Amino acid sequence: MAIKHYLQFADFSLDEYEYLIERTKIIKRKFKNYEPYHPLLDRTLVMVFEKNSTRTRLSFEAGMHQLGGAAIYLNTRDSQLGRGEPVEDAAQVMSRMCDIIMIRTFGQEIIDRFSRNSRVPVINGLTNEHHPCQVFADVFTYIEHRGSITGKTVAWVGDANNMLYSWLQAAEVFGFHVNVSTPAGYDINPALVSPANQRYTLFKDPADACDGADLVTTDVWTSMGYEQENAARLKAFDGWIVDGAKMKRANKEALFMHCLPAHRGEEVSAEVIDGPQSVVWEEAENRLHVQKALLEYLVLGRV
Ligand code: CP
Ligand code: NVA
Repeated sequence: MAIKHYLQFADFSLDEYEYLIERTKIIKRKFKNYEPYHPLLDRTLVMVFEKNSTRTRLSFEAGMHQLGGAAIYLNTRDSQLGRGEPVEDAAQVMSRMCDIIMIRTFGQEIIDRFSRNSRVPVINGLTNEHHPCQVFADVFTYIEHRGSITGKTVAWVGDANNMLYSWLQAAEVFGFHVNVSTPAGYDINPALVSPANQRYTLFKDPADACDGADLVTTDVWTSMGYEQENAARLKAFDGWIVDGAKMKRANKEALFMHCLPAHRGEEVSAEVIDGPQSVVWEEAENRLHVQKALLEYLVLGRV
């Protein structure tokens, strides 16, 4: 049987997400009730980090322990990956010693090459182009608070980054719409969006993008790996802040999400991120629960 990887949001069908959402609810309930659940006893997750992380490392490592398995952390600073060992060779070796691998790296092509040489499932823990685990947690969080996301409108205020490309794929899978407002020069790369994707509309003015939205979301102005552009971005993103005025343009029941870490006063005001419409802490916690369902599914299949 072909190995299943999770490299982009579009790698799973709606049917698979519906299954994973049900598993997430069950696994989350067990966690809240302190009910031991060890389907991955004696299994090992290897986590490779080429960029910083708090939430992704913690949620995968804690999640694997909670499922009865072990997690091993590797980074480029002190593994042979940082000294130029070919990705293909690393994949061959690592995948002979563990049951599943999570990678946070730069270009998507790195994770694609790694997965082609892996004997075990590979999960994308963020690349320059995609962040599927985060958007899966966000969709789950929306559903928990408001029910089905199908037919709803998500406003994206920020550059075309890994989060946005994953949101655009999620919109196709779940059948919702994304109002996208990117600063000039930081717009969508058509090569990273399926030509058939009709699920988004572009807005010049970020406030217009928030009109009638059911969920407003944003992200840091400078993603990891783009730090040398920081000064230019600070200028170009002027106005791309989600503040109270923009939230007023959204539906009354609209939620605010941010994958975190956040910069208050840049992409979001303190009043919004710390306000009543914000679900950022639930969103962060749900990384743990959705990823436990994902680990279970990729290692064991449907249970
Ligand atoms: N949202 C997210 O992926 O956070 P970390 O960078 O802390 O892992
Ligand atoms: N777009 C951000 C997300 C961080 C979780 C980045 O890539 O740095």
